[in-house]
Amino acid sequence: MCGIIGIVSKDGFSVKNTLLKSLKRLEYRGYDSSGYVTGDGELSKRTGEIDPLIASINESTTTKVAISHSRWATHGGVTKTNAHPHFNTDKTIFAVHNGILENFQELKTTLTKKGYKFISETDTEVIPHYFDDQLKQGNDMHQAIKNFMSDVRGTFAILLIKKDDNQIYAIKRDSPLVLGLAENKFILASDIYAFSDETNKAIFFEDNEYALISEDKYEFFNVNGKPITKKIMEFEWTREDETMEHYPHYMIKEIKEQPSSSLRLINSFETIQNNKLNKLADLMKNTKRIVFLACGTSYHASLIGSILLSDLGIYTRSIIASEADSFVKYDEKTLCIAISQSGETMDVVSQLKKAKKAGAKIASLVNVPFSTIQRLSDVSIEILAGQEVCVAATKTFTNQVIVMLELAKRLGYKIDLKQIPKKIQQTIAINEDKVKEMSIKLSKKRDIFVLGKGMSYPMAREIALKLKEIDYIHAEGMMAGELKHGTIALIDKDVPVISLIPNGNEEMISATQEVKARGAWIIKISNVEGKGDLIVPKCDEAEFAIYSGIVGHLMSYHIGVILKREIDKPRNLAKSVTVK
Ligand code: M6R
Repeated sequence: MCGIIGIVSKDGFSVKNTLLKSLKRLEYRGYDSSGYVTGDGELSKRTGEIDPLIASINESTTTKVAISHSRWATHGGVTKTNAHPHFNTDKTIFAVHNGILENFQELKTTLTKKGYKFISETDTEVIPHYFDDQLKQGNDMHQAIKNFMSDVRGTFAILLIKKDDNQIYAIKRDSPLVLGLAENKFILASDIYAFSDETNKAIFFEDNEYALISEDKYEFFNVNGKPITKKIMEFEWTREDETMEHYPHYMIKEIKEQPSSSLRLINSFETIQNNKLNKLADLMKNTKRIVFLACGTSYHASLIGSILLSDLGIYTRSIIASEADSFVKYDEKTLCIAISQSGETMDVVSQLKKAKKAGAKIASLVNVPFSTIQRLSDVSIEILAGQEVCVAATKTFTNQVIVMLELAKRLGYKIDLKQIPKKIQQTIAINEDKVKEMSIKLSKKRDIFVLGKGMSYPMAREIALKLKEIDYIHAEGMMAGELKHGTIALIDKDVPVISLIPNGNEEMISATQEVKARGAWIIKISNVEGKGDLIVPKCDEAEFAIYSGIVGHLMSYHIGVILKREIDKPRNLAKSVTVK
């Protein structure tokens, strides 16, 4: 959450075409407000998306140093004053920040007593005043940063500049931060996507490290201020065409990319990812306890994994990472498998750190290479979906499920994965027009229920999640069997109930009859010709999860179009959730 960018270049760069172009690539991390400041103190910020800020800047505005920020609000409402960068009173120190300073109130009180005046409601504003105070006490920046890291509790990736100083100070604990080494500039960013069009060379910050980036060099230091040598990593990034091409939204583009993104992944199983998959399958066979950790859509993929593995006699649990403290105690006999598109989700990261400390083995399925979760892992499988720009996960979900299927296959599950890309193509081709038509009526509904059982239960949740996040329609994804234990009281005439019925599942048919008897409007998704309103290709129950998911994603997309929702950037959300 929140995207930060800082650039230093001895040749100078355009604020509009370089700095904010990179920031725009991080907009999916938060889009409540944005702002930048150059090394000579030229500051601009606005609420809302980045485009108006970009439009407001003259092409000729260049600088050698600048920092910028795209905000997902935590402390303080969405206002221009709360937008970053924040600054000290005489506007000589500026900071952008991703994370949360837990003890900011305490620090604010101390600074206020010393006469510092705060104008925003944010935790971040403490930072420039803190450094102002440190410098006034006679400390140099190294000492000030060391003091900061010891005085502050919480999570942070911070970029800080002093006016007319031509360098950036970058400090990191828990929140992601990476330095891109581009041809004629250094780019500090929340993730590699910010600069992946310019360079594939990067240095990843670890916790409690800081760096000093100037025109011709970068220096890294540990928490004690001791210089450290960092490794330059060369990442590979599967790049789909990054424009929307002829599509009106990234969401639909990403849904339709799936025949190719799934094929790319499946092809990697016998080639570049073969050894890693064998290693993970071995770990899974030889571990006492497997715990999947994930959130949101990735959690739904993990549930499918759990069901597949449990069916093979391998005991697993899927746990929503933010609640894992209540359910798991990690030890050296535990294998944690994190599933995360971004590889940065804080709820997952913090559990993995605990698990690692307790001696557990860590594996992961991620989309973003070198993400924090991948770097914490003993073995990590890449889902190779390519950049996903829409906040809602679609193609990455499909690829997560496909990795689950491949792992299950290596442990004894029978499936022909090669057919999947073609069947995805068919699913879209057969269903899109019908889905569009249904969406007109669905868009007028206040509540939608989605029923599933077994492997289609996670899909019921997944479809409901998309109806909520894209369309802002209340939706419940339910275990069909649970309906009669209370929720059926909400079923009335014309209430839409989407029923997921793979292979004529009899219990699903009964549950569907029960709601139909109460007058509900039933939409059956099935893989048996003539047995559903929306039909996906013939397949087993696990594959049905993929195809029914695509139908559900198409549905939430088309409802969103009718309702004129902010499809790629739904309100209040961010793609990479890096706060707890
Ligand atoms: O990057 P992650 O996969 O860890 O993200 C997890 C969730 O935040 C994410 O799936 C979220 O639920 C999406 N908005 C769903 O479309």
